[in-house]
Amino acid sequence: MSTSAATLPTMAGGHYDDARVTAWSERIGAVDAFVFITAEYNHGIPGAFKNAVDLLAPEWAGKCVRFVSYGAVGGVRAVEQWRPVLANFSMVDIRSQVTLSNFTDFEPDGAVSPAARHSESARAARGARCRSSSSAARLETDTASVAAPAREQGVEQWQGGSDHQRIS
Ligand SMILES: Cc1cc2nc3c(=O)[nH]c(=O)nc-3n(C[C@H](O)[C@H](O)[C@H](O)COP(=O)(O)O)c2cc1C
Repeated sequence: MSTSAATLPTMAGGHYDDARVTAWSERIGAVDAFVFITAEYNHGIPGAFKNAVDLLAPEWAGKCVRFVSYGAVGGVRAVEQWRPVLANFSMVDIRSQVTLSNFTDFEPDGAVSPAARHSESARAARGARCRSSSSAARLETDTASVAAPAREQGVEQWQGGSDHQRIS
């Protein structure tokens, strides 16, 4: 199997071989912050979700991510795996997370019915500031006050193929 330059996220410049990936790139590129709602499969990240993330790179760089997870033990192992993966894009992850139990936080028909105790973690996750989000980065760039924020650094790293090799 070979990979062409156009399919490598670092080299694609937002234009991928597959129009569906280009559309995905546009959607993610337009957003400053994310809530990853993740299940857990075999104590880890769901493969299809990971694949969707791996299709892109600069589009994620330096942005903020919060987590809602679900599973037998709240999906905590999946989130613990997401954190170092997303660090590779210099994403800023919020520590507080919502961890829903498949046994107690869902109705038999699958509707979400979270226990009261999740309100506090949801509030904490919402309230946590993402200081290096792209909007904060823009503000810092506008005022030209401090060193280049994480997002700018991340984009530069991910746009340069050789830099990618260096930071991998
Ligand atoms: C192959 C397989 C492995 C799974 N492994 C885990 C696991 O390790 N931990 C867990 O909490 N749930 C596990 N589950 C349960 C899933 O998290 C659960 O079915 C969840 O609702 C799947 O969400 P989804 O349908 O949105 O992908 C597993 C399910 C499958 C099919």
